[in-house]
Amino acid sequence: MTSAKNIRIAIQKQGRLQDPSLNFIRSLGFEFKKEQLGELIIQCTNAPVEILFVRNIDIPEYIKAGVADFGIVGENIIYERGERYNIIKRLGFGKCKLIIASPRESSLRTIENLQDERIATSYTKSLQDFLRQNNINASIIEINGSVEITPKLGLSDAICDIVQTGNTLKTYELEPIATIFESEAVFIESPYYNKKKNIILERIQYGNSKTC
Ligand code: PRP
Repeated sequence: MTSAKNIRIAIQKQGRLQDPSLNFIRSLGFEFKKEQLGELIIQCTNAPVEILFVRNIDIPEYIKAGVADFGIVGENIIYERGERYNIIKRLGFGKCKLIIASPRESSLRTIENLQDERIATSYTKSLQDFLRQNNINASIIEINGSVEITPKLGLSDAICDIVQTGNTLKTYELEPIATIFESEAVFIESPYYNKKKNIILERIQYGNSKTC
């Protein structure tokens, strides 16, 4: 059972941020039943706290609307939305970069070379801003996943995507040309003030020694 009086923390439903996000919530002293993982919303067993599992890209929307009090999200998502959120804590995990890369064999090796070329990405705003700042006119092809395969398929000349280990770039024989920004997971709060959130803020500031 969930309740509107609970503090709600939105985290990634699927993907690399989920486990470290759950670990962070546990580190604040909040416990939950492992068997419930897989449900879209779960209630902590020892505090009036709920964990809401949603798509990464949607977390800012829940925060903005006040439907979730807090969220754990990659800064890359925040930059792409172009909105400001109150960051309570930088979490030190989910470190990655948004880069532009081209096929190893390609003659596109610098930002200037991208003039009039086609770049596939799911980060259209971040890429558009970067190209504008560098006075480059290129076609942005919006793709929502598996971006790295698009040059081989002839759909793009370069890609703009997140790199974490670099394995995907290596697999698809792509070389970085430029880094647009670096990112990590952050703990953000909703702009709607609510006293109930203090339990979270206190624990982030002073640790989890307080009782529920
Ligand atoms: C991201 C990104 C790259 C990949 C890079 O995708 O879009 O494809 O990670 O990571 P690497 O440098 O460690 O190889 P992810 O697997 O997170 O899923 P997504 O396609 O849903 O974004």
